[in-house]
Amino acid sequence: MSKILVTGGAGYIGSHTCVELLGAGHEITVFDNLCNSQPEALARVQRIADKSLHFVQGDIRDRVALLQALRTSGATAVIHFAGLKAVGDSVKDPLSYYDNNVVGTACLLSAMAECGVKTLVFSSSATVYGDPQFLPLTEDHRLCATNPYGQTKLVIEGMLQDLYRSDPDWRIGILRYFNPVGAHVSGLIGEDPQGPPNNLLPFVAQVAVGRRAFLSVWGDDYDTPDGTGVRDYIHVVDLAQGHVKALARLQAQAQCLVVNLGTGIGYSVLDMVRAFEQASGKPVPYKVAPRRSGDVASNYADPTLAFEQLGWRAERGLETMCADAWRWQNANPNGYTVVAN
Ligand code: UD1
Repeated sequence: MSKILVTGGAGYIGSHTCVELLGAGHEITVFDNLCNSQPEALARVQRIADKSLHFVQGDIRDRVALLQALRTSGATAVIHFAGLKAVGDSVKDPLSYYDNNVVGTACLLSAMAECGVKTLVFSSSATVYGDPQFLPLTEDHRLCATNPYGQTKLVIEGMLQDLYRSDPDWRIGILRYFNPVGAHVSGLIGEDPQGPPNNLLPFVAQVAVGRRAFLSVWGDDYDTPDGTGVRDYIHVVDLAQGHVKALARLQAQAQCLVVNLGTGIGYSVLDMVRAFEQASGKPVPYKVAPRRSGDVASNYADPTLAFEQLGWRAERGLETMCADAWRWQNANPNGYTVVAN
């Protein structure tokens, strides 16, 4: 069992991964600047796991703070979630995306090198495939960014490949996530977007709980079975377990591993609406609106390589994704923020 530094560990995917890491017996230090997360998430992670973790409030662009956290924690590996992820914001303010994501990752890697910590699992995204040339998407599909957020993921992937080529002692896992949804089965942790959610499932959940009047379905004239966009939704706990498996694989063998984490199954926006209505017993009113710029018709993974390389496959289906998302949303209608009545 190892000591691990988890950047961005208080966020949505990070917090679920912390639960799985603690469950697997690892000792963890979360390094997070809390720019889009709440310390309460970490309190709840510890409650679920019935184990404690260390927390350092810090920014990955702060080299001194990183060096100190790496040394104090005694970490032998880093799981790196910290980063900005809103596509629309990245178009409006690209420099903050390059600064946080690219400069932040370069700073982290150089601090790791200085401390002799050369094992890293990185959160990449299916966004690196751009508009799919074929489906399902395999890891050798051509890479192409359609917005600054995606471009930062591509630049970082390239930086990691270059680093591995320069020094094959590095052990690097690049995990390309499809669409993470759902929440821990306890209902204690989940996705807590600040402001109106950009992503489908949190928006649907807020409509079901009565926080928003209706969902806008962005386009019903795509070349898909019902005309709405098709995506590969993956339960966040499956995704989190993929990280634990990737870490174990890297610890067994130095390599630069690139794998999709998806289910291989595509569901449409209307499939998701219906499944959520079923799971919650609440209506999810929607209105069809124009297409969102930059959206593609369909996008889903070929998850074969993840199974071959990691022995990992997604186990939780659509019903579980919606039931767990609803449990979290219903128990925490305002996320981690407690609103006084
Ligand atoms: C988006 C990002 C992607 C990022 C991912 C993170 C864009 C163009 N892409 O992916 O880079 O990695 O989130 O999870 O933003 N939809 C609606 N109404 C809504 C919200 C979404 O109809 O209010 C539809 C979309 O048109 C799409 C599907 O739901 O067909 C999923 O959308 P979303 O959850 O935003 O994910 P992606 O666009 O796949």
